[in-house]
Amino acid sequence: MVNAKTHYDNLLAPYYSWMLGGFELKLEDNRKYFLDHGIQPVLSAIAMDLGAGCGFQSIPLAEAGFKVIAIDTSRDLLAELKKMAGKLPIDTVEDDLLNFRQHGPEESELIVCMGDTLTHLDSPAHVKGLFENVYQALERNGRLVISFRDLTVEMKNLARFIPVRSEANIIFTCFLEYEKKHVKVHDIVYERTDDQWLMKKSYYRKLRIPPEWTRESLLMVGFEIETFDMQSGMLTIIARKR
Ligand SMILES: C[S@@+](CC[C@H](N)C(=O)[O-])C[C@H]1O[C@@H](n2cnc3c(N)ncnc32)[C@H](O)[C@@H]1O
Repeated sequence: MVNAKTHYDNLLAPYYSWMLGGFELKLEDNRKYFLDHGIQPVLSAIAMDLGAGCGFQSIPLAEAGFKVIAIDTSRDLLAELKKMAGKLPIDTVEDDLLNFRQHGPEESELIVCMGDTLTHLDSPAHVKGLFENVYQALERNGRLVISFRDLTVEMKNLARFIPVRSEANIIFTCFLEYEKKHVKVHDIVYERTDDQWLMKKSYYRKLRIPPEWTRESLLMVGFEIETFDMQSGMLTIIARKR
């Protein structure tokens, strides 16, 4: 079975920031999000970014004054992050985010796992286990920010073919295949080189995480929910450790 790491290594990493509309646009979205929600350092100023990718959250957090530890399994995306971050205080770690406690201090002020990273985990038990570990790893009054796509609502028939992005020489299409607990995400890229169109394809599974289950799981672990916001199918939660 293709796991998330193989999928990013084999296909997705070089197209990732382009397919989302470009690097600067995503940085700006996250800068605005953190500013609007008062995410700025007031305690130790240590932030951990789990599934940091190319840095769409790490870079704005470092600009806001955090010292960031960015963890991801994609070497290529972390290299992009390093290049784009310049001299900002961001340490990158290539590892499974579930091992995050091995790479940070005993406690952090902020832990983020954003941009749909959570759905890359294998099972609800992994998500719940992560919440428990994050709770332990936060300072008192520290916060967790998660955002992910609600995949519990099933698209039907042709709606499952999603035209992600295209331009003169690249066409990126995604096809969704629904399973009970997961969605099989097939990414198909046509890229023109000289006078030929080359097709690349790969798939991975994303977890269908129910929003209400997530709220309940966070509360059960001990978090207080500050923000629970669904916009265009994307759920963002800010949870605090009291
Ligand atoms: C959808 S991207 C989000 C990246 C970034 N947070 C953003 O908003 O652009 C998911 C990221 O999680 C990483 N990832 C997936 N599973 C992981 C795991 N178990 N441990 C570490 N990184 C993981 C992928 O390599 C990818 O960079």
